[in-house]
Amino acid sequence: MDTYCVLGNPVEHSKSPWIHARFAQLTNQQLEYGRRLVPLDGFADAVRQLRADGGRGCNVTVPFKFEAFDLAHERSARAELAGACNTLKFDGERIYGDNTDGFGLVSDIEGNAGIALRGRDVLLVGAGGAAAGVLGPVLEARPARLVIANRTVDKAVAVVERHRELAARVGVDLRASSLDAIEGRFFVVVNATATSMTGAGVPIAPGVLAEGALAYDMMYGPAAQGFLDWARAHGAQARDGLGMLVEQAAESFQLWRGVRPPSAQVLAELRASLA
Ligand code: ATR
Repeated sequence: MDTYCVLGNPVEHSKSPWIHARFAQLTNQQLEYGRRLVPLDGFADAVRQLRADGGRGCNVTVPFKFEAFDLAHERSARAELAGACNTLKFDGERIYGDNTDGFGLVSDIEGNAGIALRGRDVLLVGAGGAAAGVLGPVLEARPARLVIANRTVDKAVAVVERHRELAARVGVDLRASSLDAIEGRFFVVVNATATSMTGAGVPIAPGVLAEGALAYDMMYGPAAQGFLDWARAHGAQARDGLGMLVEQAAESFQLWRGVRPPSAQVLAELRASLA
């Protein structure tokens, strides 16, 4: 049977095996999807082993997305822009690398939450791997203005520079900002920092939220709670990243199997199972 898995460290709480097993059931695909805990210095070995075991591809999570990018012989344009891969497909001797995180975020906001990004002002908080990984697809959704705000402004500036050409091509006003000098109000505010996890609190002022704004945390579970509570306390709609997780998985599944799984149904089931 065709085998896939998620490689990461940590990986034991990953929902990907459950999501992909459900996708396979619902689309009548014969496949197995597992999880492998990879030692921090063992990513290339883990990929070699998976291929030796007959694996057809894998998802890659923290902290190996940059190494996955380096291992790929060929990459999608969105992976090139992200500088990181969350999905590998094994094609004989060749490894194809993709990044479906940004697609997952945009699909969840637009498809599941029903909020079109086109023409909107969007704020992305954070400029680490998580933020850089989604910026290309967010730009391609053509918001009017996209501000990247980060504690370390230089990192936001570097991420903006890397996306300058794409922003010009799609006609988006793309800017970097510090956290305490964010100008204007935003209809969509995405938290791509891990501040809830560090107990540091929300690093932006509530004045950035426009009337009826969506405040989105790319994490889910306890890691997203601080940001979501803050958003609700200031009148915003709050949404966690569980839908992003399911939608990025759906895009990986499509790449591997050529079939689009019913992601909205699987998201509803996953949410119900966690409630
Ligand atoms: P990830 O892969 O999850 O993005 P990362 O690359 O380490 O992880 O990035 C973490 C992000 O959270 C960065 O934007 C970081 O800000 P800096 O670039 O200034 O480090 C942000 N972050 C982490 N702790 C923070 C805090 N206490 N306040 C504000 N931002 C924080």
